[in-house]
Amino acid sequence: MSDPTQPREKWSGRTGFILAAAGSAIGLGNIWKFPYVVGENGGGAFVLVYLICVAIIGAPVMLCEFALGRRTLRSPVGAFRALATKTSILVHLIGIGVLIAGIFALLFRCWGWGALLLALGLLIFRHGWVLVGFSGVIAGFTILSFYSVVAGWTLGYIWKAAAGQLNFPTVTDAQAHFANFILSPGWALGCHFLFMLMCILIVYKGVQSGIERWSKILMPVLFFIIFALIVRNLTLPGAMEGVRFYLTPDFSKITTGSILIALGQAFFSLSLGMGVMITYGSYLDRRESLVTSTRSVGGLDTLIALMAGLAIFPAVFAQGFSPDVGPGLVFQVLPTVFNQIPLGAFWAFLFFILLLIAALTSGISLLEVVTAYFVDERRWPRRRATIVFGAAIFLLGSLCALSVTDWSRLQALHALLLKVFATAKPSFFDTMDNLSSNWLLPLGGLFISLFTGWVWGTRHALDEIRQGAPSFGNVHLVSLLAGLKDLPPSNGGPPPYTLAAFWGIFIRFISPVAIMLAFLHTIGWLT
Ligand code: TRP
Repeated sequence: MSDPTQPREKWSGRTGFILAAAGSAIGLGNIWKFPYVVGENGGGAFVLVYLICVAIIGAPVMLCEFALGRRTLRSPVGAFRALATKTSILVHLIGIGVLIAGIFALLFRCWGWGALLLALGLLIFRHGWVLVGFSGVIAGFTILSFYSVVAGWTLGYIWKAAAGQLNFPTVTDAQAHFANFILSPGWALGCHFLFMLMCILIVYKGVQSGIERWSKILMPVLFFIIFALIVRNLTLPGAMEGVRFYLTPDFSKITTGSILIALGQAFFSLSLGMGVMITYGSYLDRRESLVTSTRSVGGLDTLIALMAGLAIFPAVFAQGFSPDVGPGLVFQVLPTVFNQIPLGAFWAFLFFILLLIAALTSGISLLEVVTAYFVDERRWPRRRATIVFGAAIFLLGSLCALSVTDWSRLQALHALLLKVFATAKPSFFDTMDNLSSNWLLPLGGLFISLFTGWVWGTRHALDEIRQGAPSFGNVHLVSLLAGLKDLPPSNGGPPPYTLAAFWGIFIRFISPVAIMLAFLHTIGWLT
């Protein structure tokens, strides 16, 4: 529905596209979350499980997202609208299920949930698959609102490192400083504002001269910084202890739970499940190969995640610290570690710049999904969409920034949530994080693969994938294993056990089931 007089924007070529998509994928998830999750879940053994999840679930779904975008030349809402059939048995079944759940909720006097589920059920009947696109736009909104707060902290810490204020003798001092910092509204809101401003300025400029241009500048810098940090930290005395902790496989720690954690992490890290890759794929030329692109983006994302662990753990162990939990590791332990090595302030500065770049290229992809919806479907001029929704996300994020640790500053909102839903997460920040990471993303990923597998059809998706990669999957798996990959099939027809056939099976059966299990695990129904 976009303005037909204006040609749709495009990437200038494959490199720009790959760097932008990799920029979206490489983010805070790689640099603070991945190393810590690996450390907790069995080191090298977990890395192995993670790699398998990326290869057999993540990559096939990424390929679907790219194909959906490039076939329709639309962002998620338009993509589903263009390809969805009017009546789909699957949608009606889901709709009826949700309505029944809503009625039960009302019977049990859960008024808020009941009303929510009934409304959702009606929306499912009204919009069908297009709702998956809308949920992507909403997820972009909610993720960016808390992501930008954390990214703002890195901005603040860059400033503090440059000013030499990160000289903490002990982790306890660093903790006190951090707690004080994130709770002071001036710093938290100011940094969050600056970060959103940067995202807005880049997305405002458009696909080629904004997102692509900045990805081409920032991604090589990111690579260079992480490399420098690895070399620096691996040469600290005692660094090998950290490498051992990070990578020694401990298969006893691999449980069903940790496999599902690996899957969830793979999805978040590859930016799947909310249509970022649909949107980015829609700006790609038909002559480019989606298959090579998927391989490069997945490979770069995994590489940087692994490198982040190599940059962080050696330093933490060399200085005799234990790997702490979550955000604490990078904002509390690392500054203390850097404080003890020569030129520490410089390395801390470099590290937070790295974190900022990673967050920035992810932040712009989130804002782009929201912007692209208003540009494609509502015919807004890009600039207006960017500013209006950037500002709206800033406001929502401000609530997150004000309630990072508890609800004390937003008591009215808290009381309302408790009244309507009878539950509330520890803070507004956690509520946004939970809503997007645990609900919208997994469900989005589930429906994207169900849609491609059963509604749009793997055959049509394959047609699109083969534009630019004509022989994708056209290889007999057994011949591949036997090293006879280039042997033409003797009867001329397509051989039965092709890679393409396996891709289809994964999309139709394996990914939906795996994502469903991971989802049930995170919301606690499967323990
Ligand atoms: N992948 C990013 C990270 O690792 C986060 C991110 C950006 C994201 N865009 C996304 C996650 C879209 C899910 C969906 O930090």
